[in-house]
Amino acid sequence: MNKIFWQSPSNIALVKYWGKHGIQLPGNPSLSFTLSECHSSTEISWKEGNGKVDLLFDGERKEQFTARARDYIRSIESQLPILKELDLHIDSVNSFPHSAGIASSASAMSSLALCLCSLEEEITGKKLAEEEFFQKASFLGRLGSGSAARSVYGGFVSWGKSDQIPGSSDEYATPLAVEIHESFSDMRDTILIVDQGIKAVSSRAGHKLMDRHTYAKERFKLANKNFSDLIKALKKGDHVNFIRIVEAEALGLHALMMSSNPSYILLKAETLHIIHRIRAFRELSCVPICYTLDAGPNVHLLYHGKDSAEVEEFITQELLLYCNDKYRINDHIGTGPRKL
Ligand code: PMV
Repeated sequence: MNKIFWQSPSNIALVKYWGKHGIQLPGNPSLSFTLSECHSSTEISWKEGNGKVDLLFDGERKEQFTARARDYIRSIESQLPILKELDLHIDSVNSFPHSAGIASSASAMSSLALCLCSLEEEITGKKLAEEEFFQKASFLGRLGSGSAARSVYGGFVSWGKSDQIPGSSDEYATPLAVEIHESFSDMRDTILIVDQGIKAVSSRAGHKLMDRHTYAKERFKLANKNFSDLIKALKKGDHVNFIRIVEAEALGLHALMMSSNPSYILLKAETLHIIHRIRAFRELSCVPICYTLDAGPNVHLLYHGKDSAEVEEFITQELLLYCNDKYRINDHIGTGPRKL
């Protein structure tokens, strides 16, 4: 049997992708940074066959994930026709809890897309230039999960057409092509796990509710503004505006959920306690920390490497009591996927 193995990280969006149209095309440009410790390791082995897909997730057969992988692979057969003539065995392992609002579909789908691109190269013997290879992986990852488009690159990454970024596209992500102020080069993200349970409402259902959302039009307009303002802040090293935009995006995402029809709430009481503590700590200490949220109750605490000792003390003394079993994951900005 032939094998390919990629490890691909999750990412945390600072300007959120929420709402889509067409085939996984975003309603607005989004901006994230890629993580390092939260990743999926995916191995694909293959033999000649007729398109069968078998999957192990964290060492177990899970029908729901297998069905999703099968549907996904079928949906990209026109891009990778070779898949019709192969039987695939996929073995994927996550370094962090899935479906808990840490973008696990981003790492899982990007690692799968990267494996499929490598597999195609291996079988056809046609090697793409590096830039083309990652663009294709981003394109294919996007078709599995929008946020996966951003996970094929390290550092700050944008996805979605914007006047601010030459060469940007709704079809795939690109590394953020602007010079970032050095003070943002050592971003830390401590993920405070409030709840490890499966999300009550999937991202897929959440995106769908944006189709008829009363605030959709305004949201897309605001996201475009936040996107360009955040880029300005990243260039200048402007921490005040960075914090303002990132936190507004986090609460804005959940405000959209709470005001959708039907409405739903993914935040927990502990999430709000943590947010209040972070704000109070920032005011008192003047350390430029802030929070963001994904589609779940867990809090991503963002700060700079130089402040880590002070922030660690704050986490242990004031935040861990709100975490499930005092569980948190210390992560940081990463360099992107690795082929093994
Ligand atoms: O990639 P999806 O379809 O799971 O959507 C991700 C949506 C958010 O994580 C909430 C925001 C984002 O941009 O990653």
